[in-house]
Amino acid sequence: MLILGIETSCDETAASVVKDGKEILSNIISSSLRYHARFGGVVPEIATRHHVENIDRVINSSLRKAGVGIADIEAIAVTQGPGLVGALLSGISCAKAMAYGLDIPLVAVDHVSAHIYSALIGQSDPKFPFIGLVVSGGHTRILLVEDFDRSITLSDTLDDAIGEAYDKVAKMLGLGYPGGPVIDRLARKGNPMAIKFTCRPVDNGLDFSFSGIKTAVLYHIRSQDSIGAQEISDIVASFQENALKVVVRNCLKALEQYKLNTLVVGGGVSANSRLREMFAFEASAKNISVNFPPVELCSDNAAMIAGLAYRLYKKGIVAGLDITVLE
Ligand code: KG4
Ligand code: ZN
Repeated sequence: MLILGIETSCDETAASVVKDGKEILSNIISSSLRYHARFGGVVPEIATRHHVENIDRVINSSLRKAGVGIADIEAIAVTQGPGLVGALLSGISCAKAMAYGLDIPLVAVDHVSAHIYSALIGQSDPKFPFIGLVVSGGHTRILLVEDFDRSITLSDTLDDAIGEAYDKVAKMLGLGYPGGPVIDRLARKGNPMAIKFTCRPVDNGLDFSFSGIKTAVLYHIRSQDSIGAQEISDIVASFQENALKVVVRNCLKALEQYKLNTLVVGGGVSANSRLREMFAFEASAKNISVNFPPVELCSDNAAMIAGLAYRLYKKGIVAGLDITVLE
C-alpha cells in the first residue's frame, strides 16, 4: 500500500511516499529555516507562507522521486498536531483536498507519536508497551507507548523544550539558528565539567525544566569580560552535559517505574551525538535497549507521518474531511 504523507507542523514543508509503512520511497523536505534565522526562532507567519507556496512542488517531487503517479497513491496521511496552528492548517487543507479529489482515505497523524515511529520504520514489529522519548524544538516528553494509536504522557517540560534551550543558548553565544547541530559539534571540543550548570529538579521526578539552566548560562556569559573560542566550547559542553543528564536520568526512572527495558527515542535532538553516547553507555551497563531513528529521520519529516499512518489505517483508523488541527 502506497501512502503519501504530508507534514507542515513547523518550519519544514515535507512530503513522502512510504510503502506498507516500512519502505521509504521518497522523503522530500523544504525548510524555511533560512528565513527564520535572523529572528533566532521560527516565525509562524513565515512558516505558513512557505508551506502554502511550496507544498505543491514538494508533493510533486516526492511522487517523482518515488517513481509513482498520483493515481498509485492509496491514502493521504497528514500531521494533525501538535504544532503551529496556521502551519498545520495549510497541510491539513491540502491533504483533505487531495483525499476528496482522489476519493481515497485520509489518515490524521499525531506528530509526537510519529517522531517515535521514525525509529521503527523498516524494523520488525515493536513489542508494546515501551517507553518513548521525544526531544525536539517543541517537546521534551516521556510516554508510555501502548500501541501505534495509544500512548500515555508520563512527563513533559514545565517551560522550555530541550531543543528550544539549545537554540536559545546558541543565540546568546551568537552561534546562529538552529543551535542544536552547532552546539553538538562545538561541545566535542569543550570540557563538559568546566562550569557547573544544573537543571532545576522537578517535583514529580519525571518532568523537565530547562529555563533555569538557560538563565544560568546567560548569567555566566554576562559575568565574563570576553569569551574566546575555547570558552564557548566549554560553555556549550557544560550546558549540554547537564541538560542531557536529566533527560537520560528521567528515562531510566520511567523504565524502572514501569518495569520495561525498551526505550524508543525521536525528535530533532535525538540526532545529538552526546545523547546517543550517553544512552549507548546506559544500554550496555543495564539490560536495556535504546532505539534511535537514522539521523536523517530525527527532524521533522513526512516519512514518519506516512509510516505511522499505514499502521493506523490497518487498525481501521481513518479521518473524516471535517478534521481540524489538534493543538
Ligand atoms: O524535531 P524538530 O526538527 O522540530 C520540532 O518538532 O521541534 O527539532 C528541531 C530541534 C531544534 O531545536 C534543533 O536545535 C534541535 O532539534 N537539534 C539538535 C540537533 N539537531 C537538531 N539538538 C541537539 N543536537 C543536535 N545534533
Ligand atoms: Zn517535530
